[in-house]
Amino acid sequence: MLANLRSLIVGFTAGVLVTAILVQQLLISQLWDPIIETSQDPLGSSTAFPDTLLHQMASLRNPLRVAQGALLRGAYFKNVHSAQSSVQQRTRSSLLKPATSSSSTHPFSTSTSRMASSKSYLEAAKERRTIYQLNKTSPIPDSKIVEIIETAANVVPSAFNTQSTRLVTLLNKEHEVFWDQVHDVLKPIVPEDQWATTKGRLDGFKAGKGTVLFFTDPEPMDTLKKKIPAYAHHYGDWAEQSNAMHQYFLWVALEAEGLGANLQHYNPLVDQKTQQHYNIPLEWKLRAQLVFGGKAGEAGPKETLPVEKKVFVHGAE
Ligand SMILES: Cc1cc2nc3c(=O)[nH]c(=O)nc-3n(C[C@H](O)[C@H](O)[C@H](O)COP(=O)(O)O)c2cc1C
Ligand SMILES: *[C@@H]1O[C@H](CO)[C@@H](O)[C@H](O)[C@H]1NC(C)=O
Repeated sequence: MLANLRSLIVGFTAGVLVTAILVQQLLISQLWDPIIETSQDPLGSSTAFPDTLLHQMASLRNPLRVAQGALLRGAYFKNVHSAQSSVQQRTRSSLLKPATSSSSTHPFSTSTSRMASSKSYLEAAKERRTIYQLNKTSPIPDSKIVEIIETAANVVPSAFNTQSTRLVTLLNKEHEVFWDQVHDVLKPIVPEDQWATTKGRLDGFKAGKGTVLFFTDPEPMDTLKKKIPAYAHHYGDWAEQSNAMHQYFLWVALEAEGLGANLQHYNPLVDQKTQQHYNIPLEWKLRAQLVFGGKAGEAGPKETLPVEKKVFVHGAE
């Protein structure tokens, strides 16, 4: 009797929590409407939410993932070693090529030959913006896009070199399949009066050329927790930080090649459908989607806080 009551209460509480999170997700997808964002909320809530929300989601999902990860731990060390040696070989053969063939005025060029469109790292970083109007015309071939994504996976740093980020790249028809799936997941849960806005946004993403899905594989972090428990409470944050570095690296690298992009968060609503469809291990956690394509429009206006509020220098000569 008491046990029944307890499971009822636990079930109810979990249900309320999940519903609250789903509703919050939907509100957020509306919040990020470019019109709202640029006219009313240039700096505000867009940066405030992800932290708290992601933590809520993480605390709901982690116990299961840790348990699943434990089953796989045995295989990890072998994988890390074989992965690392192949990374080293590749570093020697292909990744060093751009550095030797491009001049120091193009340190961020991802091309093996100097291309007119390639920009310096700072130039590309300054020009990178959120571009919502994308199309399917890419200044570079698919093979080059894939090469840039492989480079991200090999050169972006991670804590203890864990390399926990997984990049699933969807191009052309597969990019459209993904956004159709997001459409199918959202259609039944978005309130009718908001559907037109949501549909407009989804159509905009689908009009692009490709999407990179950023996942975190919890397995390397679980292994590290066992091996070096002293930092255990940091590993989650560090995996997030390294995942975000991959996001930024690619956003700027695509800009350097003349592609536009925007960053989306339809996780966790679409996770299950996507992971099943692309046969992605269910324990990987989807963190973000970078949509990219030809620039078919301009970025909206953006306010920049006075730099003195953000940068503090001591000892410059
Ligand atoms: C961590 C992070 C999460 C973001 N999430 C979204 C998002 O879910 N949807 C969206 O349209 N833009 C998203 N953005 C884009 C920001 O709103 C945008 O980068 C910011 O307003 C600055 O504009 P800019 O990218 O044009 O420089 C996100 C950006 C960051 C860094
Ligand atoms: C994409 O947009 C660019 C810039 O407006 C344009 O030159 C190109 O033709 C467009 N491609 C398609 C397929 O519409």
